[in-house]
Parts: sequence; structure tokens; C-alpha cells
Amino acid sequence: MKNKILVTGGTGYIGSHTCIALHEAGYDIVVYDNLSNSSREAVNRVSTLIGQTIEFIEGDIRDVETLRQVFSTHQFFGVIHFAGLKAVGESVAKPLLYYDNNVSGTITLLEVMAEYAVKNLVFSSSATVYGNPENLPINEESPRSCTNPYGQSKIAVEHILEDLAVSDDSWNLVALRYFNPVGAHSSGQIGEDPNDIPNNLMPYISQVAVGKLEKLNVFGNDYPTIDGTGVRDFIHVTDLAQGHVAALNYLDKQTRPKESGTTKLNSVGFLPINLGTGKGTSVLELVNAFNEVTGRDIPYQFTERRAGDIASCYASADKAKTLLGWQAELSVNDMCKDTWHWQSMNPSGYKVS
Ligand code: NAD
Ligand code: UD1
Repeated sequence: MKNKILVTGGTGYIGSHTCIALHEAGYDIVVYDNLSNSSREAVNRVSTLIGQTIEFIEGDIRDVETLRQVFSTHQFFGVIHFAGLKAVGESVAKPLLYYDNNVSGTITLLEVMAEYAVKNLVFSSSATVYGNPENLPINEESPRSCTNPYGQSKIAVEHILEDLAVSDDSWNLVALRYFNPVGAHSSGQIGEDPNDIPNNLMPYISQVAVGKLEKLNVFGNDYPTIDGTGVRDFIHVTDLAQGHVAALNYLDKQTRPKESGTTKLNSVGFLPINLGTGKGTSVLELVNAFNEVTGRDIPYQFTERRAGDIASCYASADKAKTLLGWQAELSVNDMCKDTWHWQSMNPSGYKVS
């Protein structure tokens, strides 16, 4: 029998790409999302791409009764938990909303999982939990610190997962710490669709390229980096999606009874793993790659540093390779090409232009 996975936040940017990867890897999926930052159209397009109608439930992770209904209808092997709010600036303005949605919502989900004895979880954490790192590349042992409610909500959930694993060794809890996800599915049918003016670099560049925004503001050119602009570990969303498949395969393998005749399962506990390429790329290097790959010319100007930004951030990706057998395959050029393919085919995202 195929393992069935509940994908919370599965209509969002990373979730929709992961649904395709899960389907291709032979998992059955049920998507659960309140559509607060996504569109039903994403579900339709994923269904078309995989040639099968996705089972989609519109619901909130804070809604215990709807979750119970879902868990009583399906027998899940595990949950991939993408559902969450992610805008740093908004989290500073609305901290209670962020703690309620991201932390209380996760607690409710975990309670319902416990009720139905579903103990395998892959959680969307973030490199933001490392704050301003002391050492590069950043490995999973680096201290966690953060100055905004969004990042705090990720650290809080990680602590909750750690405590849960200590309290009961039947939990298997992987926290995937994503670096900077960019790019889109190679079909150009699904991609990142920010509601408003994008906060993040790649969607901003692609909206300049498509003529929706005039020029890019490069936040600071006096960082101690190769060209003075910020350095990040950009990772293609398709590689990231494969990282989730690898994490589930790992859980499947680890939690199977090892000796015949025994029902004792092996515990994974709390396992944080970076998903990044291990390579840093500066803002200007990304702009130049985008220009080269797409034949566009992104106008930009240097402005003040953005509050809360750090100079450089890139992963040590060794743990993912050793434990999960996963590594990123796609290049910065692939990221630019696929972003542009999606953006040029869908200038207004999932909305009809
Ligand atoms: P996204 O906003 O596109 O997807 C999140 C999805 O969760 C959306 O479809 C939204 O409608 C849904 N959602 C939010 N609150 C919900 C709730 N209470 N109940 C049910 N559904 C809810 O974001 P994404 O970029 O796909 O990110 C997915 C996860 O990865 C998030 O938890 C995010 O914090 C984390 N993450 C993202 C990035 C990034 O750069 N995109 C980096 C690190 C970590
Ligand atoms: C931001 C968030 C981080 C979150 C991550 C992924 C902040 C302070 N941090 O990180 O918590 O986990 O997104 O969602 O918001 N840049 C420009 N011009 C722009 C946009 C960005 O120059 O219009 C620069 C930034 O200064 C940075 C780099 O591009 O050096 C990458 O920025 P961004 O894509 O926002 O990602 P992060 O800063 O890594």
C-alpha cells in the first residue's frame, strides 16, 4: 500500500511543488490549506500536471474539529507541515497573529496527530533560526537566535518538537531548515505568487523583468562580501521538494521494525536538517545571472541596508547528504530560467490578468 501523507499548506509555493514530487515518488497525498496565502488555481494546476485530481480540504490548522474529521477519514503515514505565515515585516506588525497561526496552529496539529497516533512529521523550518551566524557555512549545531516574530515562531516550534521527542520516543520529527527557495516548476504552470509587492529578491527581480515594477532596490552595497551586496544560499524549489521526499523516505526506512518478529520501532526523535546548496550567491551575481539567462536587463539602484538583514548566509548541506542521501542538483541559472518561464507565462500569477 502507498504511504498517505497529509500536506498542510500544500497549495502554497513550496507545498505545491512538493505535492508533485510526492506524487512522482509514489506517495498518496491529501492537501489541507485555508487559502490565506494561496489560490485554488494552484490545486487545479497541480492536478493537471500529475494527471489526477488532488484531494483538497479547505481548512485551518487551528480548527481542531476539521482536522479530526480529516484524520478520522484517512490513515496517514505522516504529515508535511508547510502551513504558516511567512512575511517578516508583517510579523513585526502583527506578532499575535504570527504566534497564533504558526505556533498555536502547530500545537493543535500535533495534538490531533497524537490523538490518531500519527507520529511522523516533516516541519518547514528556516535558516532564519540561525539569526546572524558566527560561522559559515552554517551547520545544524549553530546556535539559534532571531529578532523578529516570524523567526521566533520557527524557533518556538522547533523547541516544542524537541520537547515532544524527549517526552515520547514514538515521535519522529524532522525540521527542514530551508535556505532561500526560488525558481518554479519547469512546466511554468506553478510558481511563487506573492500577494503584494514582493519582499524577497527573486520575485522582485522577476516582477521588474515582466514590467510590473520599475527597478530593483539593492539593499546595501557595503557588506563585507564579494561585491558589497548580501550573499544568500538560493535553492531551486524543485530541489527543495525532493528534499521532502528524501525526508519521508528516511522516516519510512528508519521507523520500520528492523528485526522480523518485533514490532518495536526505531525512533528518529527531533532531527534538524539544512536544505541548501552550500553555495553563496550575491544579490548582484543573481541579477547578472538573471540578465544572462533571460536576455533582460534588470535596472537597479543601491539603497540603504534593510533593517534586520545579515551580510552572508549559506548552508553546510552535509547532513542532508549523509542522512537523507539528498543534495541540490539545479544551478542558479536553472533558478533564473524557471522563475522567468513561470513569470512570463503568468504575469499576474494565478490571477487572470
Ligand atoms: P506560502 O505562503 O506560499 O505557503 C504557505 C501555505 O500555508 C499557504 O498556502 C497558506 O494559505 C497556508 N496557511 C497559512 N496559515 C494556515 C493555517 N492557519 N491553516 C491552513 N493553512 C494555512 O509559503 P511557502 O513559501 O510555500 O512556505 C511554506 C513554509 O515554509 C512556511 O511555513 C514558511 O514559513 C516556510 N519557509 C519558507 C521560506 C521561503 O522563502 N518561501 C523559507 C523558509 C521557510
Ligand atoms: C528573508 C527574511 C527571512 C526569510 C527569507 C525567506 C528578512 C529580514 N528576512 O531573508 O526571515 O526566511 O526571506 O523567506 O526579511 N534584497 C534586495 N532587494 C530586494 C529584496 C532583497 O537587495 O528588493 C536583498 C536582501 O538585502 C538580501 C538578499 O537580497 O541581501 C535576499 O533577500 P530575501 O530574498 O528577502 O531573503 P533573506 O534576506 O535571506
